Amino acid sequence: MNSFLNDTVQGLRAADKYLLSKYFYDEAGDRLFQQIMNLEEYYLSRAEREVFELNRKAICDHFPSEGFRLAELGAGDGVKTLVLLEELIKQKRNFTYNPIDISGNALDLLAANLKAKLPDLAFEGMEAEYFEALQKLSTQTDQPLVLLFLGSNIGNFRRDNVDVFMDKLSSSLRRGDQLLIGVDLKKNPNLILGAYNDSRGVTAAFNFNILKRINRELDGNFDLSKFRHYNTYDPHTGESRSFLISLADQEIHLGAAQESFTINAFEAIHTETSRKYSKADLKDLAEKHGFKVSADFRDGSNLFTDQIWERL
Ligand SMILES: C[S@@+](CC[C@H](N)C(=O)[O-])C[C@H]1O[C@@H](n2cnc3c(N)ncnc32)[C@H](O)[C@@H]1O
Repeated sequence: MNSFLNDTVQGLRAADKYLLSKYFYDEAGDRLFQQIMNLEEYYLSRAEREVFELNRKAICDHFPSEGFRLAELGAGDGVKTLVLLEELIKQKRNFTYNPIDISGNALDLLAANLKAKLPDLAFEGMEAEYFEALQKLSTQTDQPLVLLFLGSNIGNFRRDNVDVFMDKLSSSLRRGDQLLIGVDLKKNPNLILGAYNDSRGVTAAFNFNILKRINRELDGNFDLSKFRHYNTYDPHTGESRSFLISLADQEIHLGAAQESFTINAFEAIHTETSRKYSKADLKDLAEKHGFKVSADFRDGSNLFTDQIWERL
């Protein structure tokens, strides 16, 4: 059974149903996410871009002075990364860029963009899961690693599994390697709620795309008109969560698994967590997993932080 099918079956069998957000990103999902990044309500991408524009030199000054690898987990369209890549090329720094993404489509678009805009850049895309790619990189090179993990992707891990991910990440790095981690900060809850439920319905369409993908790739029969997009934010845990709420009692059949699932009226399928952090939360997380926070860069409105963590 492939992992999309296996994960989907596990999620639909669970008492609290869920689907994994990494499966949002097929070609349509990549396109919708690009639209999300341009939405008025979705402040995250603009804020992180501003962090880079305001601090590009100071950020790059932290990177190793000798040759290094610049790898990026979940690079997507890499638009914000371009700001740093331009700065590094301007400074004539010796590095190779390795964007890592499970979406081959996203990597193809990124490669075309990089070739057009930065013809002097040495880069090699890796179509793989995060840890598979990091493992491969570590066998390829002894150069120090600077790992980019932007867009508050760390927020996609729930409180109960972020530690597992961070342990794995920490043990994939060597002493002295750096992590540049971009994280959405805890803030006015209404601003956060709006970012995941915009007035034009693009975030809702993105959420529904996972059902369309299941229908197409796993021979599912989800009727999209029988679901509603719904999102919440808990200021204590910092968890913003998105759901698809069933509007009726229904039976879903997955042809690829030869299995049916009962979903009751108003039962929820959890689809995405986007957890927000405070500065103190981040310090705790870094120290718990063997990192030291060496720098903290902000946008002008303090919505978003990009921190440099050094692996101790
Ligand atoms: C929300 S987008 C963010 C893109 C970019 N980092 C940014 O900040 O705009 C997440 C990207 O990570 C990729 N991704 C998600 N989970 C992944 C995983 N486990 N392994 C590799 N790539 C993953 C997706 O395909 C998608 O392109």
